[in-house]
Amino acid sequence: MQNRASRTAEQVALFRALETARGHDRVFDDPLAVRFLHGGYRVLARAARVRPVGLRLSRFIDRRWPGPRPSAVARTRLIDDLVGEALAHGARQVLLLGAGYDSRAYRLPGIDRAAVFEADHPATQAVKRRLVRGAVRPERRRHVHYVPVDLLREDLGDALLAAGFAALEPTVVVWEGVTNYLSEPAVDATLRRLASLTATGSSLIFTYVDRRVLDGSLDAGNWPAAVRRAGEPWTFGFDPATLPAYVAARGLRLALDMSTRDAAVRYLEPLGRDENAATFYRVARAEIQ
Ligand SMILES: C[S@@+](CC[C@H](N)C(=O)[O-])C[C@H]1O[C@@H](n2cnc3c(N)ncnc32)[C@H](O)[C@@H]1O
Repeated sequence: MQNRASRTAEQVALFRALETARGHDRVFDDPLAVRFLHGGYRVLARAARVRPVGLRLSRFIDRRWPGPRPSAVARTRLIDDLVGEALAHGARQVLLLGAGYDSRAYRLPGIDRAAVFEADHPATQAVKRRLVRGAVRPERRRHVHYVPVDLLREDLGDALLAAGFAALEPTVVVWEGVTNYLSEPAVDATLRRLASLTATGSSLIFTYVDRRVLDGSLDAGNWPAAVRRAGEPWTFGFDPATLPAYVAARGLRLALDMSTRDAAVRYLEPLGRDENAATFYRVARAEIQ
């Protein structure tokens, strides 16, 4: 992964583009997602604008790779809502950590009143920046600051402060789809750095996989094999039972821990959508104490 843009980030963008193409029963609208796609993915996302084609495509993906698409869709909507709540409660900075092709900086209402920092591995960020320059007018991206950082090798705090991140400001951090690609020391160091860098009451929203998936004691179907083939194997997970104590030891209080399956029950089921999101893929929110 180190020398090329993240393949899994592009896959998530494909899932968001397919969701956006659904029309009336979509759970978010991410018009930029298709702009981040290359080659075959872009062709698929364009074809999906014809609704029956899009629905068939999603069903095909879900049969072939059960879990990732609806899990990404449900987590995206849940995190959109959590970021919206944090902004409504006074967050003045947004940190998208491992931002990939997340387009929240350009699509969430009111987010442009905050300073948005997109931190990501340099290889993915370089591609994202180029694509955003071609798709978003300069006045719509003035609030966005890019921070290239390899969380396995560099200090996040130094990189953020050098980019103008204000220490101890009320902040909402989104760390979506990333912890599972890191190491325990990198996750530990990142949590401690975020706790010391942001104001009390700031929110850290993060996703994780149940660590029993990593040793095979919890079945995750062919999803782990698919990310391995993409060159981005899962290397880290949390135990949901010990997560509250783990974050408490790092100065955070766990306020939410929800499976993407439960997020799908909340957002997809009321629209008559029965799509199988994973119980082992989870969204958490912690508050800085
Ligand atoms: C599955 S993508 C998720 C992207 C985005 N957060 C989203 O949900 O759309 C994983 C992201 O983690 C980032 N990542 C993986 N390892 C990293 C590292 N060592 N340092 C910084 N970012 C990393 C990748 O660059 C990629 O953007």
